[in-house]
Amino acid sequence: MGLLEGKRLLITGVLTDASIAFHVAKFAQLEGAEVVLTSFGRQMKITQVISKRLPKEAPVVELDVSSDDDLAALAERVKEHVPALDGVLHSIGFAPQAAMGGNFLNTEWADVATAVQISAFSLKSLAMAAKPLMGEGGSIVGLTFDAQYAWPVYDWMGVAKAAFEATNRYLARDLGPFGIRCNLVSAGPVKTTAAKSIPGFEKMEGGWPERAPLGWDATTAEPVAKTCAVLLSDWMPATTAEIIHVDGGYHAMGV
Ligand SMILES: NC(=O)c1ccc[n+]([C@@H]2O[C@H](COP(=O)([O-])OP(=O)(O)OC[C@H]3O[C@@H](n4cnc5c(N)ncnc54)[C@H](O)[C@@H]3O)[C@@H](O)[C@H]2O)c1
Repeated sequence: MGLLEGKRLLITGVLTDASIAFHVAKFAQLEGAEVVLTSFGRQMKITQVISKRLPKEAPVVELDVSSDDDLAALAERVKEHVPALDGVLHSIGFAPQAAMGGNFLNTEWADVATAVQISAFSLKSLAMAAKPLMGEGGSIVGLTFDAQYAWPVYDWMGVAKAAFEATNRYLARDLGPFGIRCNLVSAGPVKTTAAKSIPGFEKMEGGWPERAPLGWDATTAEPVAKTCAVLLSDWMPATTAEIIHVDGGYHAMGV
C-alpha cells in the first residue's frame, strides 16, 4: 500500500515540471493519492499542459490566492473532482522585482504589500478556503526559505517568508482543534521559475553544495517533494507548527 493511498490532495503551484509542486504531485500520485491542481489566469493553460506529464493527468481548478471570488468558489470547484480533502500543499510565492535583488532600503510599501499578501497571508486564505472540505482533519504543508537569516538579494521576500512562518504557527494553533496539522518544509535552493525570477539568485545558491554536509543539487526538487509527501501522509500524526529543513544540512553548519 502506498504512503498516500486513498488521500485526496489539493496541490497549488504547478507551473512547470521543475516546480516543487509538480514533484509533490508526482510522488503523491505514485504513492496512491488522488490529486487536484490549482492555477490561475494565463498560467491555467500551462498548468493543464504540464499536468499531462504527471503519472496520471490531474484536473486543474482556478485559484488566484489574491482573489476573494476564487477563494470563495474554491470548495465548490474542488468538489467537482473530489468530495473532500485530506491535504493541501501551499506552493505559492511571488514578490515584485522591486522587492528583491538588493533594493531593500528603497522598496515601496505597495510592492512589499503584494509580496506579503501573495506569499504569506495566502497560507491563511488557502487554509480557510479549503477547510470546509477538511471535515475529518488533515495536513496543510507549505514551502519556506529559512527566514531566520538576512540572505543576499532575497530582501522583502525574506520578510514575507518570516510572516509566512509565523502564519503557519498561528494556523497550527487555531486549526489543531479541528484535527488539521500545519507544517512547512524549509527548502534549499531549487532552480524553478520563482527562483530564477530573483535577481541575483546565484548569490543565494552559491556555496550550498560545499557547505551542506549531504551536498545539494539545485537542479531537482525531488528531496523537498518527498518530505512534503511524508508530511501529507499519516506518518507524522503528532507534528504541527513545525518547520522541517530539507537543505542537505546547510542550516546547522557554522561558516
Ligand atoms: N525554488 C527555491 O529555491 C525555493 C526554496 C525555498 C522555498 N521555495 C518556495 O517554494 C514555493 C514554490 O515555488 P517554486 O520554487 O516551485 O517556483 P514556481 O515558480 O514553480 O512556483 C511558484 C508558484 O506560485 C504560483 N503563484 C504566484 N502567484 C500566485 C497567485 N496570486 N495565486 C496562486 N498562485 C500563485 C505560480 O503560479 C507558481 O505556480 C514558493 O513558496 C517558494 O517561495 C522555493
